[in-house]
Amino acid sequence: MRVVRTVLELREALDYMRMGGHTPIGFVPTMGYLHEGHASLIRKAGETANTVVMSIFVNPLQFGPNEDFSSYPRDERRDLELAEREGADIVFIPSVEEMYPQPIRTKVTVDSLTTQLCGASRPGHFDGVTTVVSKLFNMVQPDYAFFGLKDAQQVAVLRRMVSDLNMNVEVIACPIIREKDGLALSSRNVYLSGEERTQALVLSRSLRETRKAIEEGTVRTVEEARKLLVSVISSSPLAVIDYVEILSFPGLETLAGGSLLSDAEGEVIMALAVKFGRTRLIDNNVFIPK
Ligand code: PAJ
Repeated sequence: MRVVRTVLELREALDYMRMGGHTPIGFVPTMGYLHEGHASLIRKAGETANTVVMSIFVNPLQFGPNEDFSSYPRDERRDLELAEREGADIVFIPSVEEMYPQPIRTKVTVDSLTTQLCGASRPGHFDGVTTVVSKLFNMVQPDYAFFGLKDAQQVAVLRRMVSDLNMNVEVIACPIIREKDGLALSSRNVYLSGEERTQALVLSRSLRETRKAIEEGTVRTVEEARKLLVSVISSSPLAVIDYVEILSFPGLETLAGGSLLSDAEGEVIMALAVKFGRTRLIDNNVFIPK
């Protein structure tokens, strides 16, 4: 495994792999503090591509002024051990100066898919994501890029960006990896106290119970499903709801409260963002209602 820190070194390492015929190239962008969710993306990339490139870059552009950019957890040594173990070939770890050597005057914006859910709570966040991912795509020029459905809106936005701008890369969405007790893995879980960690289980439980109620037919409309999600989450005294929404996926269009879930065309997302103490957690479930 090669660790590179500049764009020039990255391009040299990639040229070497391409010249040796080690294509296609699979790419896994991350912000580090890697866990089993990231590991699953590296493994999937390894099954699909002959060279696996991973980036680790905590991108200041996607954090709001009152967010956790400076305290975002970092552990490069552990990350490199995990990347090596899971089979990454090239790990790109640029500094902020390497990624943004001059004030950025060009941004990539995806309209409308970024105004709801996390886009509403975190203004500017998705512009930061689409801009950095465009830069990384230009640097790596991957054939495939792997993203987790843990950040389902991010997947919807990036798919649209790639399609709108004719980027020559296939976005592959990978399933959410959870702890045994249901908590979706996240680098931010380290912020949780023991009590917050226990109470945060209401997120996955609310999604599971609502899915079950929909499948059993006891919940039939969008509004009933939303109410059940809210009531399970509210059983935790520490939970402060940011949003609980049910939308079409990947179009992220509002579904009328009174409408039957079974009338929705294609996939539907139940998306949650809830704060426990100072930690904001997200979780979701994408499914086809029957
Ligand atoms: P980060 O939060 O580090 O996540 C990197 C990738 O890992 C994302 O595609 C994310 O969806 C995926 N991931 C995180 N937790 C997961 C889980 N429990 N199961 C499956 N996949 C999971 O997302 C970002 O970084 C950044 O926005 C980035 C795309 C790197 C741009 O800066």
